[in-house]
Amino acid sequence: MGNGDINRYPAVSRVCTLKWERQVLRLIDQRSLPFKEMYVSCRSVENVAEAIKDMVVRGAPAIGVAAGYGIALAALQFKGKNKEKFIIHIDESIKLLSGARPTAINLFWALDRMRDVLDENKNLEIEKIREKLIEKAIEIEKQDLEINRKIGHHGKKLFKEVKGNIRILTHCNAGALATSGYGTALAVIRSLSAESKVANVIVDETRPFLQGARLTAWELYQEKIPFFIISDNMAGYFMSKGDVDAVLVGADRIASNGDTANKIGTLSLSILAEYYRIPFYVAAPISTIDMKIKSGDNIPIEYRDKREVREILGKVIIPDFMAVENPAFDVTPADKITAIITENGVVYPPYKKTLAKFLKMDKQGN
Ligand code: MRU
Repeated sequence: MGNGDINRYPAVSRVCTLKWERQVLRLIDQRSLPFKEMYVSCRSVENVAEAIKDMVVRGAPAIGVAAGYGIALAALQFKGKNKEKFIIHIDESIKLLSGARPTAINLFWALDRMRDVLDENKNLEIEKIREKLIEKAIEIEKQDLEINRKIGHHGKKLFKEVKGNIRILTHCNAGALATSGYGTALAVIRSLSAESKVANVIVDETRPFLQGARLTAWELYQEKIPFFIISDNMAGYFMSKGDVDAVLVGADRIASNGDTANKIGTLSLSILAEYYRIPFYVAAPISTIDMKIKSGDNIPIEYRDKREVREILGKVIIPDFMAVENPAFDVTPADKITAIITENGVVYPPYKKTLAKFLKMDKQGN
């Protein structure tokens, strides 16, 4: 199934989500993929905030990494010598970036790390604090890549028992484009593919922004991983035919009880997967877990511009006088999630207990 011509695929992965180059943040413009490979240069914190809002860069970990560089740029933008004013400027920049998108906790996680650097180094000269902020942004990016590779390593073990090559259904884009490279859900797929264990990836197109059809497919295409794209309403059909061994998705925020916010449509997939007794896995870095909130009810859901639903790639398909809604995320209840794959291992239900224990062990370095 899925008869795309894999031999036409370029041999080398060229996925480069973001690059810090001579004090400029270069972002691949994810709005124009897969048709055009263009880069947007961010030279100010305002540029970065705009890029996050407009989905030039998207995906929870990538948003966090970009925000770190946003603060590095804010520090570079400040020209005065008054430290108090410098601190106010960084605080305001953190506020600006915090307002860019509400759901993915990684944004706030990264901004908290940047604020820690500011707080810990308040006594140094502005130039030194600036250097430390830039160093931290680079560190966040590097760590993210490492984390992704570990997620891939832990995740592939879940498929040991599957006989033959594996067919995985994924939603949205939880790949290299959603991180600083390699991905979360796609990290697992990449690790399995490195051992030639992937039969097919079933890529949900992911209306309305089409992250699956445009971005996940583009990544898999680069790496010659076999896939085919379906429209979102076809998932149940393929599950009912026995063509799906597992559903594997990323996450934007995981509450302390395991409820997980991810791209709109994930909830329906989890319900289908439960019905057809297909394992439903979430792959995410530990920084996506928000232990401060009790359940998914406390996760803020972003509502985006209705034009995203009204139009497809700029072509209007629904006239203005018809009402539409555009919630960008939904929450999958913890009881639908078979396991959560992190960089430090796999966590199983009951998440209310296991997540707290897992994170405690993680802090103690076990
Ligand atoms: O609106 P997006 O494209 O930023 O949403 C992205 C997702 O929902 C991803 O699945 C999630 O951020 C995990 S990315 C590793």
